[in-house]
Amino acid sequence: MSEPTVIPAEKTVEIRGERFRLFLDETAIQARVAEIGAEISHTYEGQVPILIGVLNGSFMFIADLMRAIDIPCEIDFWKLSSYGAEKVSSGRVHELKKIDADLEGRHIIIVEDIVDTGLSMQYILDRMQEHNPASIRVATLLHKHEATRVDVQLDYVGFRIPHLFVIGYGLDYGQQGRNLPEIYILDDA
Ligand code: IMP
Repeated sequence: MSEPTVIPAEKTVEIRGERFRLFLDETAIQARVAEIGAEISHTYEGQVPILIGVLNGSFMFIADLMRAIDIPCEIDFWKLSSYGAEKVSSGRVHELKKIDADLEGRHIIIVEDIVDTGLSMQYILDRMQEHNPASIRVATLLHKHEATRVDVQLDYVGFRIPHLFVIGYGLDYGQQGRNLPEIYILDDA
């Protein structure tokens, strides 16, 4: 006799009193990260790109992305701040940790967790040019395309998502939720 089909209740989490529902599971994220890693490996064949992770949100994505790249590559981190504990972008960008590596003549891949208004990425790209790199490309796991106010160059986009606040897989709400291996979206229902 076959087992009755059990439809699981929709998975939700509560962070700082707000309810978020499952949006992208681990399988979907890992499959997309593997595709981007393969594309980067192909594009940069014979070169040694340097991945610049924008902290804190990109730490999980950059760790998985680097493992999905099978050519020699390097890593460094840059820390910016713009959100604090708010759920709406303020558009303010502060530099909190500088890049240690010498980027002159290097092939840079900026690795971001999410592009929302695009203001942070615009600032990052402007500042990166000052290092005289050989090339700059951008990899972002998520893109809130409806919210983007400036025309920024995005070379590798994991997923285009609605204009709603998300957490998990490195992304936080008031510093919490980064440890979730999946991505959850604010349950506005
Ligand atoms: P932007 O400058 O508005 O594009 O914002 C980019 C930064 O805001 C990202 O690197 C994140 O740190 C943060 N951010 C934007 N949207 C979200 C979100 O939905 N959840 C968590 N952080 C976000």
